[in-house]
Amino acid sequence: MRTPLVIGNWKMHGTVAEARVLSTAIRDGLKRPRGVQVVVCPPFTALAAVSEILGGGPIQLGAQTCHHEPAGAHTGEISVPMLAELICRWVLVGHSERRKEIGESDELINLKTRAVLSHGLTPVLCVGETADERRQGLTFTTVEGQLRAGLAGLTGDQIAKTVLAYEPVWAIGTGVNATPAQAAEVQGYLRGLLSELSSKEIAQTVRILYGGSVKAENADALLAEPEVDGALVGGASLNAQGFIGIVRKAARIGTAAKE
Ligand code: 13P
Repeated sequence: MRTPLVIGNWKMHGTVAEARVLSTAIRDGLKRPRGVQVVVCPPFTALAAVSEILGGGPIQLGAQTCHHEPAGAHTGEISVPMLAELICRWVLVGHSERRKEIGESDELINLKTRAVLSHGLTPVLCVGETADERRQGLTFTTVEGQLRAGLAGLTGDQIAKTVLAYEPVWAIGTGVNATPAQAAEVQGYLRGLLSELSSKEIAQTVRILYGGSVKAENADALLAEPEVDGALVGGASLNAQGFIGIVRKAARIGTAAKE
């Protein structure tokens, strides 16, 4: 049984003051989440403030990226130990916006994944095809390349500690989500690859999230797919009630599966 996981990726949104309001509302609206794990990823500038508000409670803190070195002359970068100091336990790695806008390569993403694991945090490795790649029938080829490169050299134990997120680029911020069947098809394929890269047993324990225009209205259908172990939520995570709505749906599915 994989506990559903819902992660809010706030992207480049919110001042520290706004992040305090949003994280307080999420914390107060989800006092004792059962059957679900919840993470929020504010911008770097708000991590310390949000960490204080979450106070080591059930809602955990994540970062949107990191540098792969622990320290050094890397102007503008933030290392994993710096994140760990703020009680940040999760790091998104290889988000499509960073692949596209910053030019992050699969090799760099692999270094980041390893760095996150080596400091005991959980990487959330993001993969996904563009609209063009899907049209050309390259969906599986694309996500397979990203997965193999992102996890290259990891042991089975390390793969077991990783979370994957399938985020089709064409679904991000467009209001057009993948259908539950499309998400399940790709995520099932990713799980098959995980089996090959680690073992069948490990692959069964790794959570694979879906991301791309998830909102309270479509969360039920997406999360009902056995291959969809949770959601990586962008826009809808900026509204406390919207985000809480998605978490509640995931919790219902998580609790029902346990009973
Ligand atoms: P949206 O939910 O805004 O489509 O963003 C998805 C995403 O990129 C989360 O990482």
